[in-house]
Amino acid sequence: MSQNKLKALCARAALDYILPKLHGRTILGIGTGSTTNLFIELMAQEKIRLKGAVASSIATKKLLEKHEIKVFKLDEVDSLELYIDGADESNSSLELVKGGGGALTQEKIVAAASKEFVCIVDHTKWVSNLGEFPLPIEVIPTSIKYVSKEIKEMGGDPEHRKGVITDNGNLIIDVKGLYPISKPKSLEKDLNNIAGVVTNGIFALRPADKIFVASNSEVSEYSRSLASS
Ligand code: A5P
Repeated sequence: MSQNKLKALCARAALDYILPKLHGRTILGIGTGSTTNLFIELMAQEKIRLKGAVASSIATKKLLEKHEIKVFKLDEVDSLELYIDGADESNSSLELVKGGGGALTQEKIVAAASKEFVCIVDHTKWVSNLGEFPLPIEVIPTSIKYVSKEIKEMGGDPEHRKGVITDNGNLIIDVKGLYPISKPKSLEKDLNNIAGVVTNGIFALRPADKIFVASNSEVSEYSRSLASS
C-alpha cells in the first residue's frame, strides 16, 4: 500500500475516534503536513460541523479556509479540547520528533494548549528510538552560527535548511548525529536552553496522548496511559 494510502487510513481512524467528541461548538487544534492535510480533506468531504479550528501554520490555515472552516487565532479561544497532528517519528512513550515541515514552534504551542493530542502516522514513523530523522530546530536568524557551534559541542551535526523561513520569520537547522536520543525530555530542555533557539522538534515534555499508526494490515491505536495497542 502506498504511504499516501496509509496516511489516509490513520487520518480516517483519528476522525472516527474524535467524531463522538465533536459538536457544533468545537474548535479543533490542527497541525501541519501531508497527513494532517488528508485529515482536513476528510473532514471537508464528510461535512463535519465545527465552530472552527486553530491552525499551526499558514499552510494549514489556507487549506482550512479553502474548505470554509473558520480559523481562530489561539489567543481568541478559551481552551482547546483536541489537537490533531502528524509526526516525523514516535516512540512507544508517544514522544515525538516533529518539524519536518518547519512548523514545529506553532505546533508545540497548540499541542501544549490542548487537553488531548491525537497523533496520526504511518508505520514508517513508529520507531524504537528517536533521532534517526534529523532533528529540526527553529532559531533566531542572528543566532544560527552560535547555536550550530553549541550543537556540535553536544555531539550533533547541524545543517542549515537552505531557503526556508518559518512562519515566525526564523531559520531551521536540521541536526543529525543525535541517534539514539535516549533521554528525550532532558535533550528537549537542554536544546531549548541554548540562547537563540526558539524551539526544537522533540515533543517529549508534551507528548501525544493517543496515536494511530497505519500499516498495510491494520491501524493500531496506542494511548499514553495504557501504552498498548
Ligand atoms: C510539520 O512541521 C511537521 O511536524 C509534520 O507534522 C511532520 O513533518 C509530519 O508530516 P507528514 O504528515 O507530511 O509526514
